[in-house]
Amino acid sequence: PDVAVALGVFAVSFLLGSIPWGLIISKVVYHTDIREHGSGNIGTTNAMRTMGKAGGVAVFLLDFGKGLVSGALGLAAMNLLASDASIGSVLMGAIATAGCTLGHIFSPWLGFRGGKGIAVAIGALCMTFGPLGAFIEVFCIFAPLVLITRYVSVGSIASAALCPAIACFLYWGQWPAIVLYGLTGATVVWAHRANIKRLAAGTESRIGAKKRQA
Ligand code: G3P
Repeated sequence: PDVAVALGVFAVSFLLGSIPWGLIISKVVYHTDIREHGSGNIGTTNAMRTMGKAGGVAVFLLDFGKGLVSGALGLAAMNLLASDASIGSVLMGAIATAGCTLGHIFSPWLGFRGGKGIAVAIGALCMTFGPLGAFIEVFCIFAPLVLITRYVSVGSIASAALCPAIACFLYWGQWPAIVLYGLTGATVVWAHRANIKRLAAGTESRIGAKKRQA
């Protein structure tokens, strides 16, 4: 029964994560397709770049929110439905985080393409890692790197790559959850492959730059 709960949590989180808020806001509010502008990504950074602060903040809050809700649902399902807690809350948190992040990156509504997963993953991690893990991710890794380098993607890639290390720090010994956090982080890094190429070529957009990218 707990496997069914875990599969249900993954499916619901995946569906929540798959809602492409960046595209919806760009179409409904700005009457354009965000995928045709800037980096072509549907996430916060490109929303900020192409729709301005209001659009960027809206997309961030909605993407972050779907992660937060997924994480909360995963933990609630664990507490309410699991019969013998054979799948613990740490693993259920990892399943919810993986579900919504993968749903965002491989959205069925966009032909299994999508965003890069940072805002949604951080939303989920705020619930599943709890305050300490989320604080480390955001204020010790993401924010300082973005401020120092002026590249959002550098903060994003480092936060994703270090996600399994933080999971080790928080949940040492809970290997299935740590592996799942690692796979999720690796998928987010993979979703940034175009950014990695641009960083290597020196053509990545810095914060504040208006330049458009292919
Ligand atoms: O997480 C997304 C960010 O790291 C990069 O976004 O639009 O510059 O590819 P973008």
